[in-house]
Parts: sequence; C-alpha cells; structure tokens
Amino acid sequence: MSRILVVDDELSMREFLEIFFLQHGHEVTVAADGTEGVQLLHEQEFDLVITDLRMPGTHGMVVLRRCRELYPETPVIVMTAYASTNTAIEAIKIGAYDYFSKPFKLDEIQVVIDKALERRRLVVENRALRARLEQRGNTSGLIGRSRAMKEVFSMIRRVASTRTNVLILGASGTGKELVARAIHDQSERRNKPFLVINCAAIPENLLESELFGHRKGAFTGAHTDRVGMFQAANGGTLLLDEVGDMPMGMQAKLLRVLQERKVKQVGDLREVPVDVRVIAATNRELADEVNEGRFREDLYYRLNVICIELPPLRDRPSDISLLAHHFLKKYAGEFGKSIDSIQPEVLQRLHRHPFNGNVRELENLMERATALAEENEISLAHLPPGFGHHQVGTGTGNADVELPLDGLNLDALINQIERDLIEQALQRTGGRKKDAANLLGITFRSFRYRLDKLDMS
Ligand SMILES: Nc1ncnc2c1ncn2[C@@H]1O[C@H](COP(=O)(O)OP(=O)(O)OP(=O)(O)O)[C@@H](O)[C@H]1O
Ligand SMILES: [Mg+2]
Repeated sequence: MSRILVVDDELSMREFLEIFFLQHGHEVTVAADGTEGVQLLHEQEFDLVITDLRMPGTHGMVVLRRCRELYPETPVIVMTAYASTNTAIEAIKIGAYDYFSKPFKLDEIQVVIDKALERRRLVVENRALRARLEQRGNTSGLIGRSRAMKEVFSMIRRVASTRTNVLILGASGTGKELVARAIHDQSERRNKPFLVINCAAIPENLLESELFGHRKGAFTGAHTDRVGMFQAANGGTLLLDEVGDMPMGMQAKLLRVLQERKVKQVGDLREVPVDVRVIAATNRELADEVNEGRFREDLYYRLNVICIELPPLRDRPSDISLLAHHFLKKYAGEFGKSIDSIQPEVLQRLHRHPFNGNVRELENLMERATALAEENEISLAHLPPGFGHHQVGTGTGNADVELPLDGLNLDALINQIERDLIEQALQRTGGRKKDAANLLGITFRSFRYRLDKLDMS
C-alpha cells in the first residue's frame, strides 16, 4: 500500500484517480488546488504525487518544486490538459518523474505509475538498509555477513541484555575484543566503563593489585591507595583478555571474586561489593588448558556460561570483501583520500590468502594499500610484492613448497588449495563440471564429492 496525493482542480479527475488508486489498494489524499496540495505536503510525506499543472491560484509547478525540496525521493507525475509539451518538458527538467497529457486512458498511465511506485519502494528500502548499516557501525564497527558472523551478531544481541559471564574464543586477530565491546555497547551498561586488562602482559606479582587494587603501603612501591580494574569498571564491563595466560594463583582469587561479587584490595581486610560484567577472551584452546591442568576447571565453567567462538577469517570467505571495503573506507577517510574501489584481481588474491593473522592482517594490508594508492582504486601494485600469488606445479614433479617458520595448518591449507583450484577450473570451463574435472585430472564422481566436502555445491 502506498500513500498517494492527487492534486487537481477538476472534480471529475480527482474522483476518477481516487477510485483508480483505491481499487489498487492504495491510500489516497486529494487536494482541490495547488495551495491545498502544498499544505498537505508540509503535513506528511507521500510515496507518489500526481498533480495537474494549470490550476487557479498555485500552479502545479509550485507543487512540484515544493515536493522536490521537501522529499527529493518522492516521484511526482504531472498532468497537463493542453498538449503543451513545453510546460511538461519544463516540469521534467526540474525533476518530475513523468507527465501525462489529458485525456488519458488508465492502461496508458498504469505502467508509469507502477514504475514510479516501484522506484520509490527501492529508494525506501535502500534508505532502511543504509540506516541499519549505520546502526551496525555504531555497535563498535563489528561487521560481517557470513553465516558464522550472523550467528555471532545474534549471540551478542541475546547476551547483551543479561549480566552472564561470556567467554570469547578465537585465534589472534579474529575480533574478540570488538565482540566484547559490542556486547557492552548493546547492554544497559553502555554508559558505564568498558575496561580491558591483558592478563598476559602484566607480571604475576602485579596482576592482583592491577585487578583488585591495593592500599598504601601494602607492598614496596605502593605509595598511595589505588583502586583496581574491578572497582574502576563498577557498573560496567571488564574484559579479561588472554585469560588463558593467567597464573594459577590468580585464577583462584579471580574465582572468588566472581562467586562473591566482592573484591578485597591488596593490603586490606575489607571486601567491597562490585557490580561488573566479566567477559573473558583467549586465543588458547581453553578446554585443553583445563585438561592439561593449566587452567582451573571451576573457573573455566564460571567464565564459560555463554561461549562465543570466532572462526578464523579463511573459514568465512564471504566476509573478506566486505571487510576489505570497510577498511578501505576507514583508512581513506583517515588519510583524506577519495579511494572507493578495489580491483577484482585484488579481491581474488585476498580470497586466496590464508590470513593466519585474520582480520587484523587484512586490516593492516588495507591500511598499507590505502596509504600507497595514488589513484582512486586499489590495484595489485598496492599489495606487498608477490602477495597471494602462488604458481602450483602440475602435480607430476616436486611440489616445491616451503614450510613456514612458525608452521602451518595442513588440513586447512589443503582444503584451501583444493577449493581454489576447483573454483578456477569452474571459472575457466564456464561452470561445466565435467570439463572442470578433466582439467583437474579427476573423475566426475570425485569432483562432485569434493564440491560436497568443501561445501561448494
Ligand atoms: N568483524 C570485524 N569487523 C570489523 N573490524 C574487525 C572485525 N574483526 C576484527 N576487526 C578489527 O581487526 C583488528 C583485530 O581485532 P581484535 O583486536 O578485536 O582481535 P582479537 O581477537 O582481540 O585479537 P588478539 O587475540 O590478537 O587480541 C581490530 O582492529 C578490529 O577492529
Ligand atoms: Mg584482543
């Protein structure tokens, strides 16, 4: 249903159009002259305006102009009784969507009206999408469109309203901190502090005072009273980053605080109540740490009420191009450059890259490319030399590969090579699977099996 405004001084025409639109399920408002038409425009927005041009008093051109000013996205169709094409052309010039010369038959105007309404619908839809994107930008800039990320978004929404502890798992650079921030930003605690403490970066003997604070004189160097992170984050959220690296002794103390919701400063006997939502993050396999006795099981269960797992970037390829554009926009803005596109070849290379450093690596890469680019497009020249470009042999001689210094993930790499070559074979054969299988030297059966296995069918 659309809201339509009909402006015409001629009663029979108003009635005629009113009935026509009502029959099509729209909501119609009529105005008997231009003045009334303009007034209605000031009162509400319409999806379509149809106005006569020659009317006593305010001319239809004025209605058109006002509507263009107030609602540039509302299509206006003008009607003219005289075959005065000049005025009609004039109207088109200042932004009318189309014109009818009276008299007209309904089936003549139907198509134009449908098109105008369709365009309007698209514009509105687009606007809603943009608004949603901007909103998403507000939730700490966490973006993604892969199934995995959509699940993460929905988890964030669901846990944000509670105060349960959340455990975020994921390799380095997958966005754990950003997820923690998003949870905080979407929770009722958003106006209270969000603090991060990196448990791996602080020496064991300082961690306790860092977390819980200390009294003056509690230990050598404690010259004044100092509140810890828990108290500083009161009412808000505390992210215990790299929690997997927390020493055993501290784990016991942390567990007590989580159970009692009270902290005791180093060198003090009193306990102070704190209201803090705790989010823990780690790139270790925390369950393994528990099994191997390096992480307390009771603390693990206390932290792991809800677990959000961020898959490595290479397992969510549909996020790559989205993120690349996101970072391009971010750094182009920062550097004051007007670069707005990425060449398809660059995106292809990005898709082939293993991204062991995950989103952080992609971000750094895009920052570098944006800094280097002098044109308004990111091209291969802006990628590090040799980036993502591997020629493979034909599989008959030596593979000629080199094991990276810090090792690799063999299964993931082999899947990736398989996926890549299958994609290229399909591309080269225009999607013909039999030919693609031939090109890869495998049977059609085996080809189909691989498509299934790699979730490519
Ligand atoms: N989904 C995403 N959308 C936008 N930016 C992201 C996303 N994921 C990560 N980033 C960006 O990538 C960088 C790394 O993210 P973050 O610091 O949250 O990762 P991490 O998992 O905490 O890494 P580490 O384990 O190394 O601490 C940040 O600059 C972050 O803004
Ligand atoms: Mg982090």
